Amino acid sequence: MTDHDLAALGRVVPDPAAVPDPAAPAGPVPDPAASGAAVPDLEAGAEAAVPDPEAAIPDPEAASHDPAVMREQYRSTPLLETDLAADPMDQFARWFRDAASGGLHEPNAMIVSTATPEGRPSSRTVLLKQFDARGFVFYTNYDSRKGRELAANPYISLLFPWHPLARQVIVTGVASRIGRDETAAYFRSRPHGSQLGAWASEQSAVIASRDELLCRYEELATRYPEGEQVPAPPEWGGYRIDPQTMEFWQGHENRLHDRLRYVRTESGWLVERLSP
Ligand SMILES: Cc1cc2nc3c(=O)[nH]c(=O)nc-3n(C[C@H](O)[C@H](O)[C@H](O)COP(=O)(O)O)c2cc1C
Repeated sequence: MTDHDLAALGRVVPDPAAVPDPAAPAGPVPDPAASGAAVPDLEAGAEAAVPDPEAAIPDPEAASHDPAVMREQYRSTPLLETDLAADPMDQFARWFRDAASGGLHEPNAMIVSTATPEGRPSSRTVLLKQFDARGFVFYTNYDSRKGRELAANPYISLLFPWHPLARQVIVTGVASRIGRDETAAYFRSRPHGSQLGAWASEQSAVIASRDELLCRYEELATRYPEGEQVPAPPEWGGYRIDPQTMEFWQGHENRLHDRLRYVRTESGWLVERLSP
């Protein structure tokens, strides 16, 4: 299979209980340009990965609200070593394109996990804003919990949960702060309200009330009216993750999933297959 062949992509067979209500308004369409991610071009003409009724294998146990009996059957073409790009970033670009063109909501949302030097982990969702040969970039507050943990322990994990495609990508690596110029350039591209929000929020600190936050925002809005240049807060900025491993997971029927992991070695990237 080629990665341009969306018809052959893994699809999650919908759980009838979880099928979105067609009467409900459609969610926002992801705008890769707005995400700022280095989105590869869509020359492949990939069509949207709309659910294929033919692929539906009803799981009678799934129509329940009990998570213990929730089960999906995945149908997809195996992911073979020979399908992979030589460089994991190129492989990521292919899958990111599939996720973006498949209409996934916020395909650039990733779970970022950090840990204290004592090994106490913490996770949260963050938006990927750029990726290229140098690594993955996201923006946050350097004084936040994640920022403090990274200052003491730069090892990090990123997880892209592309459930509708029965795929996930897990990256492990080392995070470092990006340059101030790069942060400032990105900050300028953000909407005015988000710029003020970055100043208003002392991210991860305990606050007395929502009013306190709104009050700070209003003060800032008076100081920096719409159209006025807002500088990037000193404690706000980007991290770039230099990957050490990148695992590409493709779900299949009967839990016979593919897991191909690139591992960085001194002589280049090694690919190993993991048992599902
Ligand atoms: C979809 C989504 C996207 C988010 N994107 C970001 C982001 O790009 N940067 C950020 O700092 N927090 C983002 N957040 C908020 C984080 O999940 C988290 O609450 C915040 O960064 C504080 O995390 P910490 O206290 O663990 O450091 C996002 C949350 C969601 C649900």
